[in-house]
Amino acid sequence: MRIPDFELERFFARHEFSAPYLLCTSDVEGYPMSDLLALADDETRALWAELRLGYTESTGHPLLRREIASLYETLSSDEVLVFAGAEEAIFVTANVVLSPGDHAIVAWPAYQSLHEVARGVGADVALHELHESEGWAIDVERLRGQLTPRTRLIVINVPHNPTGMLADGATFEAVAELAAEAGATLLSDEVYRFLERDPSDRLPAGADLGRHVVSLGVMSKSFAMAGLRIGWLATRDRGLLDRAARFKDYTTICASAPSELLALIALRARDVVLARSRSIVDANLALLDPFFDRWAATLSWVRPGGGSIGFPRLRDGLDVGHVFDQLLATEGVLLAPGSVFGHPGNHFRLGFGRTDMPVALARLEAFLSR
Ligand SMILES: Cc1ncc(COP(=O)(O)O)c(C=O)c1O
Repeated sequence: MRIPDFELERFFARHEFSAPYLLCTSDVEGYPMSDLLALADDETRALWAELRLGYTESTGHPLLRREIASLYETLSSDEVLVFAGAEEAIFVTANVVLSPGDHAIVAWPAYQSLHEVARGVGADVALHELHESEGWAIDVERLRGQLTPRTRLIVINVPHNPTGMLADGATFEAVAELAAEAGATLLSDEVYRFLERDPSDRLPAGADLGRHVVSLGVMSKSFAMAGLRIGWLATRDRGLLDRAARFKDYTTICASAPSELLALIALRARDVVLARSRSIVDANLALLDPFFDRWAATLSWVRPGGGSIGFPRLRDGLDVGHVFDQLLATEGVLLAPGSVFGHPGNHFRLGFGRTDMPVALARLEAFLSR
C-alpha cells in the first residue's frame, strides 16, 4: 500500500518531545503508573505479580475483553477485539471493510487515518465536510446526498477531533439509520467518549445501535493512558471482527501483555480514572472560556461539547503558520495549525487535557498581548 505521510503525526514527531508546552495534544495527562497499580483489585494484583511476558491471546485477554464489553449495553466479550491502539484498529477496519472501487464517506476535518487508509486500500473517498458556521455539526441530509450504491463505509468521530463537536442523539441515530439503509458499515470513532461537557449529553455507543455499527475505543484519550497502546473494536458484526482478527495476524498478532493487564485494572476502576480526566479537562475549560471571551476579536471559538480539544480560528489578517512559528520560538508553546489536517481555514487545534495548560495558556496570552 502506498500511503501519504500522516501530517499530524509527522508534526508531533518533530515537536512533541522538544517543545516545552504542548497546547495541542489530544490525550489527557498520562496516568501515573503507581497510582494505577494502587487501583488494582485482588485478582488483578495477583495477575500483575505473576505476569509472564509471553505472547498474549490474539483477540485480547479474556478478562479485558469482558471489561471492555461492559462499556456497551448489548455486547458480549466475543464482540470485542483488542488492538495496539485505535490506530491499528482503524487500519485493519478499512482493510477488511473496503475493496478497491468501493465508496466511503468520512466526516472531515478528521484524524487523517480515518480517510487516508481507506484511500490507500483503493476506495473512492468522499469527505463529509463539517463547517465552523454550523457548529461543526454533521448534516444528515447532505450525508444522504453523498451516498452511492457503492458506499460500503461511513466514518464519523464523536466527540470530534479536531473540533470537539458532540452530535445530538437524533443526528447520531439518523446517521446510523442512513448507514443501515445503505447497507454500509458505520465506523463510529468514540475515542473521546466519556469526556462530554455535560454527561447527560453522552451518546449511546454506536455498537449498541445496530449490527452494522462498529465502535472504536481506546485507552489513550478519556482514560489518559496513551502509553498502553490498547484500543479495540466493538461490534455485533462478528463476521467483520473475524476478518479483522485474521488481518491483525499481519500487523501486531497480539497486544502487549503488561498493557492488557494495566488496561484491565484501569477499566475496572474506570469511575476513578474518568473522574480524574474530567476534572483536568473541566478545570482547563474554566480558564479557556474567559480567555476566548477576552480574545473574541482575534479568535473564533466553538466551545467543544466533548473531548479534550477544540479548533479555534485566528481571524482575518493573521497567518496561523507564521504566528505559531513565532509562538513556539518565543514562548515554547506548541499549537497545531489546521494545515496538518489538510484544512485550509486559519484554524488551529488547541488541546486542554494536560495539567500544564494554564501555564501554556498564560504564555499564549502574553504572546497575543505583544
Ligand atoms: C479521533 C481519533 N481516532 C483515533 C486516534 C488514534 O488513537 P491512538 O493513538 O491511541 O491509537 C486518535 C488519536 O489522536 C484520534 O484522535
